[in-house]
Parts: sequence; structure tokens; C-alpha cells
Amino acid sequence: MSVHDHKPEIDAATGVGTTGHEWDGVKELNNPLPRWWLSIFYISIIWAVGYMIAYPAWPMVSEATRGVLGYSSRAELAEEMQVAAKAQSQWRDQIRDLDLTEISASPELARFATRAGKAAFAVNCSQCHGSGAQGAIGYPNLNDDDWIWGGALEEIHDTIRYGVRNDSDDARYSEMPAFSEMLEPKEIKSVAQYVLSLSGLDHDPNQASQAVEIFADNCADCHGEKGEGDVEMGAPKLADAIWLFRGDSDSIIRQISTPSHGVMPAWGEKLSPTTIKELTIYVHSLGGGQ
Ligand code: HEC
Ligand code: HEC
Repeated sequence: MSVHDHKPEIDAATGVGTTGHEWDGVKELNNPLPRWWLSIFYISIIWAVGYMIAYPAWPMVSEATRGVLGYSSRAELAEEMQVAAKAQSQWRDQIRDLDLTEISASPELARFATRAGKAAFAVNCSQCHGSGAQGAIGYPNLNDDDWIWGGALEEIHDTIRYGVRNDSDDARYSEMPAFSEMLEPKEIKSVAQYVLSLSGLDHDPNQASQAVEIFADNCADCHGEKGEGDVEMGAPKLADAIWLFRGDSDSIIRQISTPSHGVMPAWGEKLSPTTIKELTIYVHSLGGGQ
């Protein structure tokens, strides 16, 4: 006999009708859904239908249904970006048209350029120079006031625009010769001691004093008589205990015998002139810009 043949009956304990479903003598009470619950349920169905009519909702083959309001999050984003670009363009137009000294003389422009330059630096430069421009072995720290190629605005600008030892004709170029073919190993060892002495670091005074002439004859042309460096030659200062490579005697001997040469791309070929100016102002602001 099917349960549906049962006439609904009233449950004696609760006074509520039963649904007629029964399992092993346990009967199901026919409690109606609460009214508040039902109302919300129907309202949400109506709201969902309205939403599907008004807004993009159903995925079709190439795009979703558009909805009668014509709303699209893409259009909204594009509009917001346009507003932002317009707000920026008044700054960027000025940066494009003014020269570097004029930009850095205007606190507002300089502030905008520094921020924009910092953002461009994170994308293009941090993989070599570090996220805080602190550098790494072979990649100069840009926060100190020790400049290989010069720390004036124009000098920084040229370095970024043309790069260093790349294929561009305007690249900054110089090459320390390999002295393994010009000096005896003993001479290289003692001139390394002399280099250490220039920075007041631990050295063998005996060997260093033997190398005074070797340094004057072979190194001073580029690095300066007292190791003060030369931005025309891109020859680092040797008297400040700041090292592009490593500052222990073995590493200095290696650099003198078979030098490493740093290479940086020419950014003028990849970034807009405005972005290069912003990067220049940012790098210059990091510390020790001349
Ligand atoms: C592929 C690695 C690399 C990237 C990327 C790179 N650089 Fe360099 N950069 C170098 C190297 C190497 C040197 C040092 C060259 C040398 O030995 O003279 C250098 C030198 C410089 C100098 C000269 C520092 C001085 O003391 O004179 C500046 C300024 C500079 N980089 C800025 C930038 C900026 C700004 C960017 C991003 C747009 C950038 N670099 C991206 C490798 C890189
Ligand atoms: C033709 C110019 C030139 C001459 C001559 C020259 N150097 Fe250099 N030296 C450079 C350049 C350029 C660099 C930087 C290499 C680079 O960035 O790729 C350098 C780098 C160095 C460094 C590494 C500095 C650091 O901060 O890590 C040392 C040390 C050094 N030279 C010592 C010497 C000594 C000692 C002599 C003489 C025996 C000498 N150099 C002769 C151009 C020269």
C-alpha cells in the first residue's frame, strides 16, 4: 500500500497535521515554511530576474548577455583609467617639456617625477640594482654618493638613456685592460695591497710601498693619482672602500689580472623620454645626487 493513500491526520502530541509520510511508525509533521523566509525567497527570485534583465548575466558564445543598462566593468575601468591618465597628463606634459633642472627646481613636479620614477625603477631596474637601488656585486649601489659615471642630473640621464658597454653607439664605454699580460704576478699582488691602502684598509705596507710607481704608471690615468676615480673613464674611485666588485685582496687581484666589465642596456630605446627623465629625478633623489 502506498503512503499517498493515507489521509493526512492530525498528530495528537503537537496538534499539527502530518504529511502522510511514515517510516517505521515515525510520521512527518506538515509544518509550513515561516512566512518571513518565504517572502525573502520570492523577493530574491524577482530580484534575480530583474538583475538578469538589467545587467550582463548569461554567458553566451563570445560574450555574456549585455543587460538593458549597458553596464560593463571593463568600460568602468577604462573610464577610471582615463580620468587617472588625464590627472597625470598635466604633470607628465610638463615633465616632457621642461628640462631636468627646471623639473627638480619645482617641488611639486619633482615629487611627481620621483614617484613615477620609483614605479618605473621597480619594473625595469630592480632586477639588477635591487628593489631599493642598493645594488649587488657588479651592479652599483645608487643610494650612495659614489658615482662611476657621474651623479649630476645630466650625467645620470645619459647613463640611463645610453647605458653602459652595450651595442648602442652612444653607450658609455671604457675598458680596464687585463694586466695579467702587462705586469708580473708579484707586481699585481703588490699593487692590490696599494689599492687596499688607498682606502685605509688592512694591507701589507711593504708590498704597498713597492707599488707606488706601478700604480702611477699603469692605473692613475684612469683611476686618478690618489685613486679618486674618473667619471669620464667610468673608472671607480678606489679610495673610498666602496666596491663595485669585491674588496678583498684576492678579488682585487682578479680584477687587475682579468677585469670584469659591467654592462647596462640603453633605456632610451625602450622607455619614453618622459619616463627616462622621471627615472633620472628618482635616482638623483636617492642620495648624493650632485
Ligand atoms: C641588466 C642589468 C641592469 C639593469 C636592468 C639596469 N642596470 Fe643600471 N647598471 C648596470 C651595471 C652593470 C652598471 C655599472 C656599469 C659599470 O660597471 O660601469 C649600471 C650603472 C648604472 C648607473 C650608473 C651608476 C654610477 O655610479 O654612475 C645608473 C644611474 C643606473 N645604472 C641606473 C639604472 C636605471 C635607472 C635602470 C632602469 C631603467 C637600470 N640602471 C637598469 C646594470 C643594469
Ligand atoms: C683604461 C682605464 C683603466 C685602467 C688603466 C685601469 N683601470 Fe681599473 N677599472 C677601470 C674601469 C672602467 C673599472 C670598472 C669596471 C667595470 O665597471 O666594468 C675598473 C675597476 C677597477 C677595480 C674594481 C673597483 C671596485 O670598486 O670594485 C679595481 C680594484 C681596479 N680597477 C684597479 C686597477 C688597478 C690597480 C689598475 C692598474 C694596475 C687599473 N685598475 C687600471 C678602468 C681602468
